[in-house]
Amino acid sequence: MSPPFSASVHVREPDLGHTTTTKPTDDTRSTVIAAFRTVRAETEHRCASLCEEDQTVQSMPDASPAKWHRAHTTWFFEQFLLVPRLVDYRVFDERYAYLFNSYYVTAGARYARPQRGLLTRPNCAAINEYRRHVDAGVEQLIAHAADADLEEILHVLEIGLHHEQQHQELMLADILHAFAQNPLLPAYALDWQSANPQLGGDEFAELPPGIHSIGFADAGFCFDNEQPAHRVFLEPARIGRALVRNAQWLEFMAENGYTTPSLWLSDGWAVVEAGGWQAPGYWRKRDGCWFSMTLGGLQPIDPDAPVTHVSYYEADAFARWAGKHLPSEAEWEIAARTNLLDDAFGAVWQWTRSAYLPYPGYRPAPGALGEYNGKFMINQMVLRGSSHATPRGHARVSYRNFFYPSARWQFSGLRLIDYLN
Ligand SMILES: [Fe+2]
Repeated sequence: MSPPFSASVHVREPDLGHTTTTKPTDDTRSTVIAAFRTVRAETEHRCASLCEEDQTVQSMPDASPAKWHRAHTTWFFEQFLLVPRLVDYRVFDERYAYLFNSYYVTAGARYARPQRGLLTRPNCAAINEYRRHVDAGVEQLIAHAADADLEEILHVLEIGLHHEQQHQELMLADILHAFAQNPLLPAYALDWQSANPQLGGDEFAELPPGIHSIGFADAGFCFDNEQPAHRVFLEPARIGRALVRNAQWLEFMAENGYTTPSLWLSDGWAVVEAGGWQAPGYWRKRDGCWFSMTLGGLQPIDPDAPVTHVSYYEADAFARWAGKHLPSEAEWEIAARTNLLDDAFGAVWQWTRSAYLPYPGYRPAPGALGEYNGKFMINQMVLRGSSHATPRGHARVSYRNFFYPSARWQFSGLRLIDYLN
């Protein structure tokens, strides 16, 4: 099995920041085509070591097969860019919209998510062909679109590229979950490097209290949920420079963290009991020692590495046990903007105690793409930063990731905050 992307994930950085312009040039078009090819190639690179069976399996309703990710990201370009914009475009297969539409009600009926693993057909060869067909269409559109149309085309294209990058990380989280169900515990990449151990110490840094602005207010791309930028008020507090490490989590476990109901939210305790949780996701005890299933296979727990694959419920219980709190997303963002955080990006996503809600004045984009973020703003919690599986160039200080509080198959960890009041 060849290493799928240990080099490329940290090297390939598509230039997605300047794809829109009021006066398009040939340079603009070639830059955009290069960015498009880079992102599409990264998806294929991440799947290069996965056989057809690997790409077809769906290990739980929340996860999707790698083959489905590859097809769905392709459908996104076909549905939202080629069908409406490329004259004489021939849809690759009229049936695919039903199979590969995820949740866009506006775009029509769709196949049930929990059954995506039943799609042995179309096979990988057909999806390869689908990707090539759509790639050619997108490149034709970019190369030949009228100047007057290019700005809107590039806007949708840019969303499609960032969308595909999101799925690149999801693919790895999903295949890890699938491999973790396999008694053979296969490695996705034998040389996979999990989240790097932190270099910083355990100290807490004082947050600048008072009024600050959060949200995206720069030039370039952001998702609609990062806007409008707005003011927030921070109470005096000190935030952990470092991520919570496995050594600390082992202390929490040793002090009966998973069996002490008073540490847990009611919903969280119900999940702990129902799931029999005794440790983070993918942890297994062998001969008295803890191991974790990773993309590199089963590996001993590194006490210095950030804890990963914990749910919001676990992060919240840990914070309570530690006598501290999870930061709000505003506190996290201001801390990151003022360089107070070690490992803000590139190790693990960090749970915040903020519910995933619209920012003041938020409005979803018009049309089907307005379904991208806004309709999920209920019952989920925000994570900030990025993980070691996040494609390079995809993270931002204002980026808002979100998952249900019981989810722990993502590369999710935490840091703490302490208040001075
Ligand atoms: Fe999607």
